[in-house]
Amino acid sequence: MTGRDDDEGHGQQRRPSGVDRRTVLQWGGIAGLASTAALPATSFAQRPMPEMAGKGYPVIEVAPLAEIAVGSEIAFHYPDDDSPALLLRLDRPAEGGIGPGESIVAYSVLCTHKGCPVTFKKSHNMLLCGCHWSSFDPAKAGRMVIGQASEPLPQIALDVSGGVVRAVGVAGLIYGRHTNIR
Ligand code: FES
Repeated sequence: MTGRDDDEGHGQQRRPSGVDRRTVLQWGGIAGLASTAALPATSFAQRPMPEMAGKGYPVIEVAPLAEIAVGSEIAFHYPDDDSPALLLRLDRPAEGGIGPGESIVAYSVLCTHKGCPVTFKKSHNMLLCGCHWSSFDPAKAGRMVIGQASEPLPQIALDVSGGVVRAVGVAGLIYGRHTNIR
């Protein structure tokens, strides 16, 4: 049965009185969002972090681990000077996170919709794009929560060596590129 069948009222399923077609569609949208939000993280495509390193990516030092406090934001570039990125230490564990509580992550800040820079909104624990308001969750591998983008933010693979956090790879294609390594 189609939504049109329902809405046209052929006597099989009727809306409650006073509820118009637009409201029914809005309810459907909200229910869809709610059910998506309730899905466990493993329901989404996962990008295998350990496989990123050692595939032609440079290794660069970002910051000493001891200097990265909860709430820190450290801007850097990776894998080259044309690719701005942001390291975050969240107040919670994160997929692909390293360090204390697996709370340190990093992402390309070029929105996967049209390449505008995203910024970290600490009060919401989200990376937000001001161009068309896509919102990406840094604790969930950069997956989009709402907005126009169709891909997660590319996540920068990190490790710790000699007490220093290093960038060693990228999961996902950086906006505007055919390959991440030029
Ligand atoms: S460029 Fe980020 S949402 Fe459009």
